[in-house]
Amino acid sequence: MHQISNPSILYFGTPVVLVGTTNVDDTFNLAPISSAFWLGYRCMIGIAAHSKTTENILRTRECVLNLPSVEQVEAVDRLALLTGSNPVPAGKKLKGYTYEADKFGRAGLTPLESTIVSAPRVLECPVQLEAAFVAIHPFAAETGIENIRSVTLELKILRVHLDDSIVSRENPDHVDPEKWRPLIMSFQQFYGLGGQLHPSKLASVPERLYRTRDTESAGISHLDLN
Ligand SMILES: Cc1cc2nc3c(=O)[nH]c(=O)nc-3n(C[C@H](O)[C@H](O)[C@H](O)COP(=O)(O)O)c2cc1C
Repeated sequence: MHQISNPSILYFGTPVVLVGTTNVDDTFNLAPISSAFWLGYRCMIGIAAHSKTTENILRTRECVLNLPSVEQVEAVDRLALLTGSNPVPAGKKLKGYTYEADKFGRAGLTPLESTIVSAPRVLECPVQLEAAFVAIHPFAAETGIENIRSVTLELKILRVHLDDSIVSRENPDHVDPEKWRPLIMSFQQFYGLGGQLHPSKLASVPERLYRTRDTESAGISHLDLN
């Protein structure tokens, strides 16, 4: 039996991403989001139109998508209800948000210089994706411009940094899903993933068939790193 329901939120469980951006004064902002998915070397994030992060990405045209593992859950939680916007937007004030200029310090996380963009990586995050802003799409614009509260931003991944601990031993261009433990937000609560459930027919497709021109241009030979 199913019942008709009217939940206030539809956060069914998505990975947490810490978006690193640069402020006007060259300090850093860091914001947890969980509305994110990837197709090829493109990522779509869903984000409040009136967030410091959106403002920074639209101005600088870049960011870093840092993916915490379950190990960083406490640091992520310390970033909740904080904004880099001053004054705090009215909608956020209502939810109890306060202004914080030093998100890295508050979270106990370490900024790390990126290789292409000026936005910061997060040292503690096993995955760090340097990205360029490509396109913006407003949510609910068909009901009137004044109703736009969120936007999706298409980001192009320029460079991928992976912690050794999640990289396949046999192939440095493969994340081992047995080792990668993403932090998942489901209905405002934090979860991890369980173990593998079933053999996967989709996994019979060789990963190299998903490579695109974007993938190749984000690659870097191991010689280039020296
Ligand atoms: C676990 C978690 C997930 C979140 N997911 C989103 C999200 O997907 N989109 C969004 O706009 N805000 C999300 N938020 C709230 C943002 O962190 C919030 O908008 C914050 O103000 C962003 O920081 P900024 O204002 O400095 O950019 C999430 C917060 C937490 C703690």
